[in-house]
Amino acid sequence: TVRRVPLIAGNWKMNLDHLQAIAFVQKLAWTLKDANHDFSAVEVAVFPPFTDLRSVQTLISADKLPLAFGGQDVSEHESGAYTGEISAAFLEALETRYVIIGHSERRTLHGETDEQVAGKVAAAVKHNIAPIICVGETAEDLEVHGASAVPVAQLRAALARVDSAADIVVAYEPVWAIGSGQAATPEQAEQVAAALRGVIAEVLGHDVAAKTRILYGGSVKSGNIAGFMREPNVDGALVGGASLDVNEFAAIVRYQK
Ligand code: G3P
Repeated sequence: TVRRVPLIAGNWKMNLDHLQAIAFVQKLAWTLKDANHDFSAVEVAVFPPFTDLRSVQTLISADKLPLAFGGQDVSEHESGAYTGEISAAFLEALETRYVIIGHSERRTLHGETDEQVAGKVAAAVKHNIAPIICVGETAEDLEVHGASAVPVAQLRAALARVDSAADIVVAYEPVWAIGSGQAATPEQAEQVAAALRGVIAEVLGHDVAAKTRILYGGSVKSGNIAGFMREPNVDGALVGGASLDVNEFAAIVRYQK
């Protein structure tokens, strides 16, 4: 069996400017190093706003900090007349390891479609950035279709343009659990994560399914992370609100302690 290194990812959303980002990343690295965190056992990544990325990259590379970082979105286009967009090539030039794609806030507030999500995933993969593909059902979907149907369909659509060589991560974020304080139960997360792993196996093969990390997101905090991490198909978390407090985020990273 393949060992999947758990990933704890902090999605800052539209919070922390580049000066705050520098202070935050330094404090996070010190806090985790002081606690002797084993970064090879649990990987840590932050997802700052685009305007912070260059500062975060410079700090991480200059101080050789064992943290990964990524963008919160990316354009599906290579370059050209797309005012306001950020290309995968730009992110690649900043040594960006990951990029969040298809977050429910992008889908809902910006009308992002499954086709655009698939295009963004393809663009990221082409530029050697691992997409963190976000899927999840609304409260209404849950009532009408059950928990797995919508996330499964979203993931199948998102994988339309990738092949088995791609390095991908999936994040299951039930929309009703995001920012609501009402997290899914570990059992609910496990059930959907298992279904999503099935989709990966079907589309990209069993080897890819076995090595792909599936994260849970939605009201994760230090008090509930351990329960999710005990589930066999949950390989980490995508954390929103609780990732903005250094000590709380560090406590989530150190869920085994
Ligand atoms: O991408 C993370 C996210 O949407 C979850 O947010 O604040 O519920 O942890 P939150």
